[in-house]
Amino acid sequence: MTSKLLRGRLLSFKREPEGLSDSGSYLYIEDGGLLIENGIVAGIGEFSDVQATVGAVTEIIDHRPNLIMPGFIDTHLHFPQMQVVGSYAGSLLEWLNTYTFVEEQRFADADHSARIAVKFFDELIRHGTTTAVAYCSVHKVSADMFFAEAQRRNMLMLGGKVMMDRNAPEALRDTPQSGYDDTKQVISDWHGKGRNHVVITPRFAITSSPEQMEMAGALAQEFPHLHVQTHLSENHAEIDFTCELYPQAKDYTDVYAHYGLLGPKSLFGHCIHLSDREADAMSESGSVAVFCPTSNLFLGSGLFGLKRLSKRDKAVRVAVATDIGGGTSYSMLRTLDEGYKVLQLQGERMTPLESFYRMTLGNAEALGLAGKIGTLDVGSDADVVVLNSRATPATALKMEVVKTLAEELFLMQTMGDDRTIAETYVAGKAVKRGIAL
Ligand code: GUN
Ligand code: ZN
Repeated sequence: MTSKLLRGRLLSFKREPEGLSDSGSYLYIEDGGLLIENGIVAGIGEFSDVQATVGAVTEIIDHRPNLIMPGFIDTHLHFPQMQVVGSYAGSLLEWLNTYTFVEEQRFADADHSARIAVKFFDELIRHGTTTAVAYCSVHKVSADMFFAEAQRRNMLMLGGKVMMDRNAPEALRDTPQSGYDDTKQVISDWHGKGRNHVVITPRFAITSSPEQMEMAGALAQEFPHLHVQTHLSENHAEIDFTCELYPQAKDYTDVYAHYGLLGPKSLFGHCIHLSDREADAMSESGSVAVFCPTSNLFLGSGLFGLKRLSKRDKAVRVAVATDIGGGTSYSMLRTLDEGYKVLQLQGERMTPLESFYRMTLGNAEALGLAGKIGTLDVGSDADVVVLNSRATPATALKMEVVKTLAEELFLMQTMGDDRTIAETYVAGKAVKRGIAL
């Protein structure tokens, strides 16, 4: 048995905070001890109390004065878009056609997919992200390389081979049958191997024919324990084109509903321009709307109504994500900073407690994985991030006047990035130092 004891300030959420003074929503221990045995959290409490329970062979790693939290979770990003980030385009469809659909063709090549997979997981770790929900490319081999690398690193990853059979270059199209067959093969090869979860991934209604949507629905029915991911209501031109392609549908959301793709395991990227009817349908089905602030701003897609959706009578479940490569940062800190500004522009507020809840437990709940990841609770996988609020001269200076935990969290969100991440643990193993620049 391998066992180690981390010492530092511990922060782990219990539920969504209801305001800045909601101290009942989290556990905070100033001089805490987190005991990890065989990759699982085995104890949490005051350092002296936890230390008293362990033998002399347990390695003690002192992270004081840094803050120890559950690893960050990113619920929507694209593994084949690492070299698309920062491409100059006016809007979503131009960006997809000019850059993204060109770049993704390279992932037909196993060597290229394998090389980018290494870079991808390195980058996540550098930014403190220990679980992510990724789109691979249309090529099965891209999913094979993604999951092989995730398994090699023992990371809890979700991902899917993209299904797309129209409105894209020939080299990026499967067929309803091959998309179905390849997805099934990826499921049998990878789901449950290591910590891998396979996600059924029709890219979006524009690039899937009705026949392919039928096949995606069939997969969702055959594998009800798997997640589904796609894009919804990101951009006005996208919405108009979708409604032309599916004239019988009441609206964009109804396209997915028609094929049985709504549900509590379904993640819908963007959801910026939903009508009340669509929000009702999302709510009634328990579907999750994924907020991707850096991407929505970068592509000029619009302002996500986080409170408008999550606080309505029929509440919609919400997750947060980077959406690399429409998104512009791998950092969940940078992502929530931009998210905060998106809310500000709409007269909505998000407290720093809520932000850090959303990066961790909130996203774990959205994925239905809260028993495994997202907290430091005993029995959880020991995916952990260590945060240094004094990592740069400017933040160290500001920390001289910071008085509360909430203020410190807000500073890390506002000015933090990969430099803030002092260490990342994956299943109890420290993995950042080896790759840090
Ligand atoms: N809609 C369909 N595909 C994509 C994608 O790759 N990125 C974004 N932001 N939106 C999409
Ligand atoms: Zn996306």
